[in-house]
Amino acid sequence: MTDKKFARTLVTSALPYANGPVHIGHLAGVYVPADIYVRYLRLKGQPVLFVGGSDEHGVPVTIRARKEGITTQEVVDRYHKLIKESFEQFGISFDIYSRTTSATHHKLASDFFRKLYDDGKFIEQTTEQFYDEQTCEFLTDRNIRGECPHCHAKDAYGDQCEKCGRTLSPDELINPYNAVNGNPLTKRETSHWYLPLDQYQEWLEKWILEEHKEWRPNVYGQCKSWLDGGLRPRAVTRDLNWGIPVPVEGAEGKVLYVWFDAPIGYISNTKELCDNQPEKYGKWETWWKDDSTRLVHFIGKDNIVFHCIVFPSMLKAEGSYILPDNVPSNEFLNLEGDKISTSRNWAVWLNEYLEDFPGKQDVLRYVLTANAPETKDNDFTWADFQARNNNELVAIYGNFVNRAMVLTKKYFDGIVPKQGELTEYDESTIKEFCDIKKNLEELVEQFRFRDAQREAMNLARTGNKYLADTEPWKLAKTDLARTGTILNIALQIAANLSIAFEPFLPFSSEKLREMLNMDKVQWEDLGSVSLLEEGHKLNEPVLLFEKIEDGAIQAQLDRLARIKKENEAAAWKAPEVKQLTSIDEFDKADIRVGTVLECQKVKKSDKLLEFKIDDGMGGRTILSGIAQSYPEPEVLVGKQVLFIANFPPRKMMGIESQGMILSAVNSDGKLVVTTVSAQVANGAQVG
Ligand code: MF3
Ligand code: ZN
Repeated sequence: MTDKKFARTLVTSALPYANGPVHIGHLAGVYVPADIYVRYLRLKGQPVLFVGGSDEHGVPVTIRARKEGITTQEVVDRYHKLIKESFEQFGISFDIYSRTTSATHHKLASDFFRKLYDDGKFIEQTTEQFYDEQTCEFLTDRNIRGECPHCHAKDAYGDQCEKCGRTLSPDELINPYNAVNGNPLTKRETSHWYLPLDQYQEWLEKWILEEHKEWRPNVYGQCKSWLDGGLRPRAVTRDLNWGIPVPVEGAEGKVLYVWFDAPIGYISNTKELCDNQPEKYGKWETWWKDDSTRLVHFIGKDNIVFHCIVFPSMLKAEGSYILPDNVPSNEFLNLEGDKISTSRNWAVWLNEYLEDFPGKQDVLRYVLTANAPETKDNDFTWADFQARNNNELVAIYGNFVNRAMVLTKKYFDGIVPKQGELTEYDESTIKEFCDIKKNLEELVEQFRFRDAQREAMNLARTGNKYLADTEPWKLAKTDLARTGTILNIALQIAANLSIAFEPFLPFSSEKLREMLNMDKVQWEDLGSVSLLEEGHKLNEPVLLFEKIEDGAIQAQLDRLARIKKENEAAAWKAPEVKQLTSIDEFDKADIRVGTVLECQKVKKSDKLLEFKIDDGMGGRTILSGIAQSYPEPEVLVGKQVLFIANFPPRKMMGIESQGMILSAVNSDGKLVVTTVSAQVANGAQVG
């Protein structure tokens, strides 16, 4: 456990790739928890710096540029701006949000590499890599395709086959080619610099496994399994034309590996901030080189190895930096049961949310924290979003505050009434909320934001129950003094709520303070029963939260359904052609045209439809297992369909079926009955 007393806290949140907007997965995993933590520390009056920025190097941004047909610079400019603005609107309270293409970062990352290089901390290795002779470039794994050695899919990636799911290395591919232009590839020797992680193994084992047992089990466990597997040297340079040039003579065409430069971005962005406003933020070295600074990295689980093993080894190799004290990493958030995916557009994008739900930042913040994937993957659903807003924010928190405000306005002209003699019930209610400060602190300091927010909501529940039990609206007629005491206590609870929720729901807390006519608050005030003095004038009540109607939720669900359809259609491949047959073989099937006279569901079966067909031969009944594709079977009445007329009759659910209706299987798995395009005589043969 960490029992050291720290003088200040430096909080970083993973730098998102500037290759697309940020989505709810990023928010729930990294930015909302980091922001809660930082707002909490600020409210406590502790020195804290919150550093963010865009990760603008690496292959992901270059792939995006190719997809959109624009330059890589245009891609990072576009998304950096979009991400920065949406974070601001959403209330992620960075002290600085900069970018890894900044001049400060280029210099700092370059100098960092050079220092390790000069100190002999790297090893140089020459290996054979795939090369495109025509474009004169080495290819990264993701940009190499070829035949899968296992399932023989023709378009497996250099790191994975999407058909059979196996992990691959580019060397295993049969006939590898350039994924961008289809060119065949050759192999060429290239040399790179490696950080020999194996040399840090023993040190890491002690530092993490012995000295940081308090890290979250998911983080600790992942580190342990990497360490148990034995660390190997890792290349820190790449053959690529986008990135920070390797500052060594003869290294033309090579750049720093994105995972080498990006975490250094935390340092560069701190430096940029401090250099610009030294009187406010002090020297950047104080934040990074003084071991009374506590460094905390907020990240997603796919970033654990880089923040717990690779970056600390880099810092250790450099020698003058502090190391992270904790790395609270979350698991993943899914969306409506499916993995969030940028490339499949399966996400709720922050910028779109802000447009679709203006002024409702806190609703999303609340839901993402209530469902935070702190210990396991979790699911975001729009139904849950609506329910938590309507049943918790509106019905509990909002309702309580509104009742306290409106009743005070009605009976006391909006002036805080006197707190008279307390009953036993008053005392026990007060006792309940006096504990909240300690409870919240314990939870937040253990990064248990989900439980902490629930604790704050419980205070609103207490308030609601208090009003329901004491019924001041009834007492007002007979005992105004007692009514005053009750409302005084209710208003004190409301004032406490504005503090307790401040780190989680900053917009609503501000709105509430405005209503209560309260100044900026401090964490230390939490738990006090005299935040509002007798005679204090309140402002007009306004609603803290509004109900979200079904229509707004349906619109989001419709959007997701549309995306799912598009993805299915894009992923669909025509099934392979069956074995060769002959005309004679085919001729044996007697396929005919008939008109559907009736079509209905077979009782007690969820699969079967019963067709009455005019087959030009006196009519027949045919059963077909397509009910799931036709929830309204009557739409088929009057259509001319194709059926096989010479199947032996077969009884199902007590009905005899005389033949088979022909249907096609669509890309979404639904069956579509085949029809004819012009009027044909019933009973006509198809062949
Ligand atoms: N861009 C990376 C990702 O989205 C995160 C980089 S974090 C940093 O997975 F430490 F490298 F900055
Ligand atoms: Zn395969």
